[in-house]
Amino acid sequence: MATLKEKRTCGQRCEDFGRFVWNSDNGTFMGRTPEKWVYISLYYVAFYVVMTALFSLAIWTLMYTLNPYTPDYQDRLKSPGVMVWPDTYEEEVLEIFYNTSNKASWTKMSNILHQFLEPYNDTKQLECNYHNCTKGKYFIQKTFSAPHHTKWACPFMQSMLGPCSGLEDPTFGYNCTMPCVIIKMNRIINFLPSNQTDHPPYVNCTILDGEENVDKIEYFPDRGILDLSYFPYYGRLAQPTYVNPLVAVRFSLVKEKEAKIQCRVVSEKISYQNFYDPYEGKVIFHLKAMK
Ligand SMILES: *[C@@H]1O[C@H](CO)[C@@H](O)[C@H](O)[C@H]1NC(C)=O
Ligand SMILES: *[C@@H]1O[C@H](CO)[C@@H](O)[C@H](O)[C@H]1NC(C)=O
Ligand SMILES: *[C@@H]1O[C@H](CO)[C@@H](O)[C@H](O)[C@H]1NC(C)=O
Ligand SMILES: *[C@@H]1O[C@H](CO)[C@@H](O)[C@H](O)[C@H]1NC(C)=O
Ligand SMILES: *[C@@H]1O[C@H](CO)[C@@H](O)[C@H](O)[C@H]1NC(C)=O
Ligand SMILES: *[C@@H]1O[C@H](CO)[C@@H](O)[C@H](O)[C@H]1NC(C)=O
Repeated sequence: MATLKEKRTCGQRCEDFGRFVWNSDNGTFMGRTPEKWVYISLYYVAFYVVMTALFSLAIWTLMYTLNPYTPDYQDRLKSPGVMVWPDTYEEEVLEIFYNTSNKASWTKMSNILHQFLEPYNDTKQLECNYHNCTKGKYFIQKTFSAPHHTKWACPFMQSMLGPCSGLEDPTFGYNCTMPCVIIKMNRIINFLPSNQTDHPPYVNCTILDGEENVDKIEYFPDRGILDLSYFPYYGRLAQPTYVNPLVAVRFSLVKEKEAKIQCRVVSEKISYQNFYDPYEGKVIFHLKAMK
């Protein structure tokens, strides 16, 4: 059929195109009357205005609902992990082995503890956390009443660890067979360890292996309690001066014998039997004093 179509010259094509652009017979411009062009333009202007408005609304709503003081994507952590210091790992097993007659051995341990306790320095704590906290009660804060639009944090001072504070005995008992370890529970924003205020969380250490090698277990502060006034934690921006409460545990060991110890933070809301997370709610370590 194409062969039947008469061949058109270039001039004719140009003329056709010219007529398409401006057809004076029926007054159309590019195939449409100017009126129609106005309508089409108006349509698109309206379309983009609505799109922009929707987009801005979405962004604004997002910004409005974002709270700058809590991360929006917290890990699905429900129950906190527990850690121990000195954190001397030997192939993923926590081995706190030391030699009482070797000064380098016990200074290594005590240096780790001194360094760990630096933020807990009494003078430092009294300076940055000078709020009067009520012990034995959750410190719920609805407003940002601390300086710089933040929330108060309760002081935790090194001296609260008594004989394990490193103040009286800078060796933390590593020059003899009464070593101290420090237990810390990780912080979780807005976490309350128990819903009954007469049951604060406490640390309980049990001997899994070598029971006869440990004479005595002592806790500092008394009974290994993590006071409720350190909960809840409101986040790094809301509570920049927050420090985790600690519990020190002192073991009286029989020399040259190893003990496997589990320290658990006991509380209603803290689980410790998570197969996938061995550090949830507890920490297990090996302790041995050599001579
Ligand atoms: C402990 O240290 C002393 C002195 O450095 C050394 O003689 C002894 O062999 C060490 N004991 C062990 C079990 O390494
Ligand atoms: C605590 O800090 C003060 C002042 O910075 C310092 O003089 C003191 O030695 C520190 N105490 C300990 C136990 O590190
Ligand atoms: C905290 O309370 C004690 C006793 O009620 C009071 O003597 C002290 O001045 C208070 N400190 C501050 C910083 O409010
Ligand atoms: C360990 O150090 C403390 C404090 O420096 C000291 O009082 C104690 O006598 C020392 N113990 C041994 C067994 O050296
Ligand atoms: C504490 O929580 C348990 C469930 O987790 C609930 O049965 C109990 O009534 C709560 N107690 C209080 C005092 O809120
Ligand atoms: C500590 O744990 C052990 C073993 O689970 C238990 O027998 C003991 O009663 C606990 N102690 C306290 C004070 O809860």
